[in-house]
Amino acid sequence: MSAAGDVEYSFAEEQDFQQVLNICSKDDYSGLDYMGATFHRWLKEPGRLTFIARMKNRVVALESALLVDGGQTVVFQGFRVVPDLRGSGVAVALQKHVNSYIRHHYPEVSAVRISRGDQPPPQTLAKYRLIAKEAILSLCCEATNLGPFVAELQSRLSCQADAPPGGGPVTLNQQQVETLILTNHVISNLLPGKTIINDWEPLKPVEANLEVLRRRSLVWIADREVEPTVISLCTAPYAVPYRHDALRININIFGHSLSSVCAVFLAQLEALLPSLQGYLILHTYVDPAVWSGLRQFCQNNANVSFFKDYWEEVILEKDL
Ligand SMILES: CC(C)(COP(=O)(O)OP(=O)(O)OC[C@H]1O[C@@H](n2cnc3c(N)ncnc32)[C@H](O)[C@@H]1OP(=O)(O)O)[C@@H](O)C(=O)NCCC(=O)NCCS
Repeated sequence: MSAAGDVEYSFAEEQDFQQVLNICSKDDYSGLDYMGATFHRWLKEPGRLTFIARMKNRVVALESALLVDGGQTVVFQGFRVVPDLRGSGVAVALQKHVNSYIRHHYPEVSAVRISRGDQPPPQTLAKYRLIAKEAILSLCCEATNLGPFVAELQSRLSCQADAPPGGGPVTLNQQQVETLILTNHVISNLLPGKTIINDWEPLKPVEANLEVLRRRSLVWIADREVEPTVISLCTAPYAVPYRHDALRININIFGHSLSSVCAVFLAQLEALLPSLQGYLILHTYVDPAVWSGLRQFCQNNANVSFFKDYWEEVILEKDL
């Protein structure tokens, strides 16, 4: 049965916040929904349109579209429908409304890009081009366990025969990041599908997207400043519904050398250490080929647990 006929569309406003939070249940996103942390920022963000669907004054669905790549692409984020209306046609109807709004108001947009953490069925995949795939290592712990975990990893790294030579990972300033990320070396050799993925946000490495990255307060660490083999970014921790004091942290690591991935991962944890309290859930996104090595590196006696087993983020694109 289709419920989509009774739906009204508008842009989300501040007063919709609570109803928007209520769209997802506590089980959606494994309790790690980012909407509470992003909603207010999304409403103010340049180049972002956040659509909601309402039925009889109830907010029943949301989808946000961020114009990127200098206005040629939209990245869809936050897509959600209230549990009782999933599978009823509301999702498809909202998607149709958003697509036609963008076609009409932004005729220069030629492609849409999404990231998905489920396993999309073959009929969905057939509609898209697969741009990139990242494997996710998910860890969780009390913040008080992070220090002992870091100490354990430090001693493990220093014992490894193939530990990278030289001065170890470097934190990059904004200017270093913006120069490095647009170099042919980083784009062709390190970025998955030539795409910068920040949390679940996939961006082409082009000048116009640097402004988007600047807004995200990221910490960038590479294994070395010149011709790095690994470059990484970490989001500022944000609150999620999983537990009253739960913080979600995302580290995206680009590169294929396991020892450098481990060193850079550890450097990101060291940078986080002074600021954290409460319960932590940490997603680290890496090349699938290094996932099991990184998992092994993270085995510990410090009460840091694996939150989830192997899972993937896929980046998909199609013409609008
Ligand atoms: C994702 C969600 C909005 C889909 O709603 P639904 O009513 O169950 O959707 P349907 O299965 O009828 O599929 C409708 C459309 O949504 C798309 N869709 C389904 N799951 C999706 C997902 N995880 N991400 C993006 N699109 C998705 C389908 O591909 C389909 O589009 P198509 O016809 O172009 O292929 C809904 O399941 C939901 O709110 N889930 C919880 C939040 C969530 O996980 N969101 C996705 C990550 S942003």
